[in-house]
Amino acid sequence: MKTPRNTPQAQALWDGAWKDADASETEVNADLRALAEQLRSGRALDLGCGLGQNAIWLAEHGFEVTACDLSSVGLDKARAAAASRGARVAFRQLDAAEWTPDETFDLVVNTYALPMDGDRRARAIRAAAAAVAPGGYLLMADWHVGAARVYPEVFSEDDLLTLDEVLPLLDGLEVILQEDGRPGGKLPDVFVVARRPVEAA
Ligand SMILES: C[S@@+](CC[C@H](N)C(=O)[O-])C[C@H]1O[C@@H](n2cnc3c(N)ncnc32)[C@H](O)[C@@H]1O
Repeated sequence: MKTPRNTPQAQALWDGAWKDADASETEVNADLRALAEQLRSGRALDLGCGLGQNAIWLAEHGFEVTACDLSSVGLDKARAAAASRGARVAFRQLDAAEWTPDETFDLVVNTYALPMDGDRRARAIRAAAAAVAPGGYLLMADWHVGAARVYPEVFSEDDLLTLDEVLPLLDGLEVILQEDGRPGGKLPDVFVVARRPVEAA
């Protein structure tokens, strides 16, 4: 797999990946579910929403949701899935690495949707952190470099991350949960939940 270095390359890769995918087969992220059940409501932003299962679940559980992705194929399927369930989600096409937030959210989510290119990935992580409102949360998870040792035919270590790469990019956020190479599922991942403190009055 060639690492996408710009928006058109990344979009082409994901449009191809989603072409034959079935949105009804995707599972809601368990970590997101656990955090959202504590928060219960608020404005949520799902970056790299894929086929939309997490965004739809949030909308069905009290959140006002904006969901973004760069793949128009993925977004079309996510929109159709939301419509079929009567879930209200504002879908928007954007490249999370080429985006400056102009509003903030109580919950910002990026699960397994960071760019593979290191510079683009750093921009996407910073922008996600900047989109967290005072008192709001960021939940981020993606494949750890160890996943390349499990599936060398699919992943290259350069495309994946470690916790050390993520933490310095979370400007102004307080890290609440962190995992570096969490075993859990099929592949090790990096997992972070962070909160932006409410400024003193
Ligand atoms: C592995 S899927 C994960 C989807 C979903 N977040 C989940 O957890 O099931 C990766 C998604 O991230 C999207 N994506 C990758 N890079 C992106 C970027 N730079 N900006 C926006 N979306 C991106 C892809 O189009 C794809 O839909």
